[in-house]
Amino acid sequence: MPMGQRDFVVAEDLVPEVVGVGCLRQVLDEGSITYLAVSEGSRRRGIGSIVVADLLARCSARGIKRVTLEVAEENSSAISLYKNHRFEIIGRRKNYYAGNVDALVMSLQIESPCEIDSESTAC
Ligand SMILES: CC(C)(COP(=O)(O)OP(=O)(O)OC[C@H]1O[C@@H](n2cnc3c(N)ncnc32)[C@H](O)[C@@H]1OP(=O)(O)O)[C@@H](O)C(=O)NCCC(=O)NCCS
Repeated sequence: MPMGQRDFVVAEDLVPEVVGVGCLRQVLDEGSITYLAVSEGSRRRGIGSIVVADLLARCSARGIKRVTLEVAEENSSAISLYKNHRFEIIGRRKNYYAGNVDALVMSLQIESPCEIDSESTAC
C-alpha cells in the first residue's frame, strides 16, 4: 500500500493568524478529508467553505476521482457544509467517536476539470 500524500490547507486572517485548517490525504486516485476546523471566533464567515473548496480544487487538479470523510452524526454544521459542496451520505460507522457517537461517511465524486469547464478544448 503506497504511503500517499497529505496536504494541509491553512486559512489566515488579515492580521496573519491561522483561523482555519483542513487536511486532505491522497492515496492513488482516492482522497479523504481527515481534518477540518475553523477557530471559534471566526466561524460563520465562509472560511470552512473556502478551505473545503480549496481541498476539492486540489483533488480535481490531481485526478482524484472520489473524496470521502467521516463526520459525527450530531455535527449538523459540518454535515450542512459538506452537503453544500455536494457530498452525500453513503454509510455509517457505529460508535466511531468517543461516547458511542456514530460517524456518517460522506462521499463526493469529483468531476474532471474537463467536465467542470465545458468550454475547454484541452481534453
Ligand atoms: C464545521 C466548521 C468547520 C464550519 O466552519 P465555518 O467557517 O463556520 O463554516 P462556513 O461559514 O464556511 O459555513 C458554511 C456552511 O456550513 C454550515 N454551517 C456552518 N456553521 C453552521 C452552524 N452553526 N449552524 C448551521 N449550519 C452551519 C452552513 O450550511 C453554512 O452555509 P451557509 O452559511 O450558506 O448557511 C466549524 O464549525 C468548526 O470548526 N467546527 C468544529 C470542528 C468540526 O466540527 N469540524 C468538522 C469535522 S468533520
